This record gives sequence, C-alpha cells and structure tokens, in this order.
Amino acid sequence: MCAMIADLEAHFREFLPPRDELLLKLEEEARQEKIPIVGPLVGELLFLLARATQARRILELGTATGYSAIYLARGSEPQHGQVITLEASPQMAARARANCAQAGLSERVEVREGEALALMDDLAGPFDLIFLDIDKESYLPALDRSQRLLRLGGLLFADNVGFTGAQDFNREIFRRPEWRVAPLLCFLPDHSPERDGLSLAVKVA
Ligand SMILES: C[S@@+](CC[C@H](N)C(=O)[O-])C[C@H]1O[C@@H](n2cnc3c(N)ncnc32)[C@H](O)[C@@H]1O
Repeated sequence: MCAMIADLEAHFREFLPPRDELLLKLEEEARQEKIPIVGPLVGELLFLLARATQARRILELGTATGYSAIYLARGSEPQHGQVITLEASPQMAARARANCAQAGLSERVEVREGEALALMDDLAGPFDLIFLDIDKESYLPALDRSQRLLRLGGLLFADNVGFTGAQDFNREIFRRPEWRVAPLLCFLPDHSPERDGLSLAVKVA
C-alpha cells in the first residue's frame, strides 16, 4: 500500500507559487505590520478561480493593501475583468489604490471606501465571483447580499471560515437550497493562520 508523505506540511510548503517584486513587497509589509493578507497560496487560488470561471465582474470584501485584488485582476485579465473591492479603512484603501496603480491595474480595480455590508446594499449585480475577507461576524449578513448580487452559477469564495465568527455562515450556506458548498479544512502555508477553512460555493438556484 502507498504510504502518506511523512512530513506533509514540509512537502506542501515546497510548492508556494513564484511572485513578482510588488507582491513580495506587500507580503513583507504584511509581515511587519501584521496585516492578515491571504498569502501566496490563496492568492494563486484566487487567480485560478478568476481564470477558470472567466469572471468578468468580481466583488471583493476586504481590500487591505490590495494584494488579493491584484491576484483577482490578474486572473481575470483575458476577459478584462473588473474588480470592485470594499474597504472600511481610508488608509488601507489609499494604499491599495497606489499598489494597484503600481501593478498597472488602476483601470480594472476600483477600491470603494466604507462598511462593506452598507456598500453592498448600493451595488447592482450580477457579479460572477464574490470573495469574502472582512470581519467574520459580517459573513452571515454578507451571504444574503451575495445571494442577491451573484449571478446564477456564480462563485462565492470565503477565506478564514475556520474562525468562530464564521460558524453561523458555514451552517447557513450548507442549509440553503440556493447553494452548493464545499467547506474545506486546509493547511495553507504562509496564510494567516496556516490551518484554516476555505469555503467554495456556487449559487445554484
Ligand atoms: C483580512 S484583511 C483583507 C486582506 C486582503 N483581502 C488581502 O488578502 O490582500 C481585511 C480587511 O477588511 C477590512 N474590513 C474588515 N471588516 C470590514 C467591513 N465590515 N467592511 C469593510 N472593510 C472591512 C479591514 O480594514 C482589512 O483591511
């Protein structure tokens, strides 16, 4: 019988995707300032999800310095995808705009300042992909709004669903007939934290 790899974590740590200078700089800033960005593995996943779904309109909740928004915009490059990203902190929003400009993405990433749930109420759908990465207590109220804003067949992706604040969200999306959901308990090198849950869901009704 085939045995499991002895040190699974060390093995999977070998496969962090390469990043350009800008992303490495944002990772270093995040380490120094304790900004909880998604890191290179979930960043790559965002790129792949945007690319595989051919998402044209993407909504992100929780911008910070724009690290994950850059992955989403780059992933949706072939279809010239537009990313709207929502951020409560004016300082973070300003940094994100500057970083997206440095990445040459100002035309494709719009940073909106304010409380994400309130900003969602002013948005019109449909979006092809929504990424949740704000305070975890807001995930459940964001679910109703995402259900309104996402197109049928659209993808909802939530980071950090291993946190207690996300428990109600996890239970509710699992229960709702409008969604098919895969809640994944993961080992995520260079993610904060490295053992956490990710939730991938498609709106099916
Ligand atoms: C986890 S960080 C986002 C990291 C970013 N997605 C990345 O990986 O590069 C969460 C960000 O969301 C913002 N935030 C938290 N709760 C929010 C809310 N309810 N509405 C708007 N922004 C919020 C915080 O100020 C913080 O910058």
